[in-house]
Amino acid sequence: MQEKILHLKSEIEAFEIINAEKLELFKNEFTTRKSKVALLFDELKNVPNDQKRSIGQELNHLKQLAQTKYEENLAIIEQKSESDKSINEIDLSLPLPNSNGARHPLTMVRERMIEIFSRLGFALGEGPEIEDDWHNFTALNFPPNHPAREMQDTFFIERNPDIALRTHTSSIQIRVMESNKPPIKALAPGRVFRNEAISARAHCVFHQLEGFYIDENVSFLDLKNALYHFVKEMFGQDINIRFRPSFFPFTEPSAEIDISCLICKGKGCNVCKHSGWVEIGGAGMIDPQVLENCSIDSKKYTGYAFGMGIERIAMLKYQIKDLRLFTENDLRFLKQFDSL
Ligand code: PHE
Repeated sequence: MQEKILHLKSEIEAFEIINAEKLELFKNEFTTRKSKVALLFDELKNVPNDQKRSIGQELNHLKQLAQTKYEENLAIIEQKSESDKSINEIDLSLPLPNSNGARHPLTMVRERMIEIFSRLGFALGEGPEIEDDWHNFTALNFPPNHPAREMQDTFFIERNPDIALRTHTSSIQIRVMESNKPPIKALAPGRVFRNEAISARAHCVFHQLEGFYIDENVSFLDLKNALYHFVKEMFGQDINIRFRPSFFPFTEPSAEIDISCLICKGKGCNVCKHSGWVEIGGAGMIDPQVLENCSIDSKKYTGYAFGMGIERIAMLKYQIKDLRLFTENDLRFLKQFDSL
């Protein structure tokens, strides 16, 4: 008898319950009234009286062992079937909520800017992000070692001071002028790089849109008209524009372009530092020397150029207060633009 009990005990322990069918099998073999355990109980009557008590106790332990194993596995299997059910309840054919991608706000603003200017007859030009000194500086009238180069903290390529990441899209002016004859009316959007610490107001990578027009008799008035039109189209008819005298080596005269602050409507606030005006870019008449550097006759032709920060325009348009948001790709930020 003792042997049978031990044998059955190891049988119960070794039984693997991996699914509901096995559990059912286990239940019939070891816990019901016709189970192997119950049959052993029937044999108890043949056990000599003086052993009945201890054998009976062992049988009770065996019964308990089978019962506990059954209940534990029942709980596990029930829980598993619950979670299976909830998986099955997902309808895989349903469209995902908010699964549509959206254009990045900088892309939207760039496209809008290009759309506005292309209606004035501007075509698209382009140039490389890794530039040589000639296109980024020298041809634009930044003489070697001239302090004006310090205006733009430059990332140079190690071991070759002639190659740098372009610091502005004005380098594309040179590339387009070198390979085209006037009249030239072109836009050049692109990524630019400056060695600046990243903060809410500055970044080492940002975007500009360059525009320039070279023809006979192009005047400062033409520049003003083009930018006036752009600002009204981009921000609305009630926005004002002003030109502030400035300096760039490649334009003469030069100006910085301000628009009336969109946040306070010109009354004065933190964004415009209480001046009522915010800067959106630089502009001017292309210096005759720059035209000559590109083999364009400066006695016959004149031209204007402007360059604007695309991030700056986007920040003003959508009231974004931190430049870093554009590069972090936080979905909570990007999703706000998916219906625009
Ligand atoms: N390239 C100048 C800058 O990045 C902007 C500019 C472009 C100024 C064209 C004048 C004309 O600061």
